[in-house]
Amino acid sequence: MNRRAQFLEVLGIATEWVPRARTGAPAEAVPAMAAAPAAMPDARAPAAIPAAAVAAEVAEITEVAEITEVAEVTEVTEAVSAPPMQPAARGPAVPALVPAGPAPGSAQADREAAIAAMDWPALEAAVAGCTACGLCQTRTQTVFGVGDRQAEWMLVGEAPGENEDLQGEPFVGQAGKLLDNMLGALGLARGRNVFIANVLKCRPPGNRNPEPAEVAQCEPLLRRQIALVKPRVIVVLGRFAAQSLLRTTTPIGKLRGTVHAYEGIPVVVTYHPAYLLRTLTDKARAWEDLCLAREVHDRAGARA
Ligand code: URA
Repeated sequence: MNRRAQFLEVLGIATEWVPRARTGAPAEAVPAMAAAPAAMPDARAPAAIPAAAVAAEVAEITEVAEITEVAEVTEVTEAVSAPPMQPAARGPAVPALVPAGPAPGSAQADREAAIAAMDWPALEAAVAGCTACGLCQTRTQTVFGVGDRQAEWMLVGEAPGENEDLQGEPFVGQAGKLLDNMLGALGLARGRNVFIANVLKCRPPGNRNPEPAEVAQCEPLLRRQIALVKPRVIVVLGRFAAQSLLRTTTPIGKLRGTVHAYEGIPVVVTYHPAYLLRTLTDKARAWEDLCLAREVHDRAGARA
């Protein structure tokens, strides 16, 4: 079974979707790339990759157009023929989810500078002993992240849930099984050319949404992980992680289908596996997202 067929089966849509011959997709069927935003004063602030550069890099995203529908025509047709996203569709540059960076010279600025200089052992120790926010009082243990530290792919989720808090590894529950299957369909595996981490390293009690102050404390740790791994592409899983990383309040439906950037690394947004377990109709869209991520990954490799 080829990868696409395997993926469709994993997603439970193998019987509903069939590939169509590559016929030269119309221009509007290619997922839009975000136009370049205005320069942001904060060097860490993410930006969409300039449209021209990305269009050249990812000019031929035809996988999406190759999935034609048998049973649920409107779902994918709408997804693939969405008009190019306009800059105005993006959220404010400094949204509510992640506060602006620390004041220069403050203790938080010093902490962030120290984290930014850490190697893997120091970073692991910093996460394990972190008491920067109240989540340290309720966690069983921190969840650092798992995988190949020289991976070309990095996946970023929201925060540990109950199982992850108990086992100390991201995505070990039902959602993790789906994630592993999705990785397998892409020819990847946990620990082999993939590093998986979360925005938060500690479980929010009762799996409540992370709070902005918690994200602000934890994001420097993730940023350092990303800097150390240096992936070719980051796949962000779910609304919360996407909005935190990209510093936006734009809904996930609008963040998908566009190549963003975090610290200069291409970012593709897709749905959270836990959401996909509940929402069959969006699984085809997740496939589109992973096809886009693979295209971005492959193009980045060709350039290297
Ligand atoms: N959901 C996440 O976002 N991360 C995990 O590690 C587990 C569930």
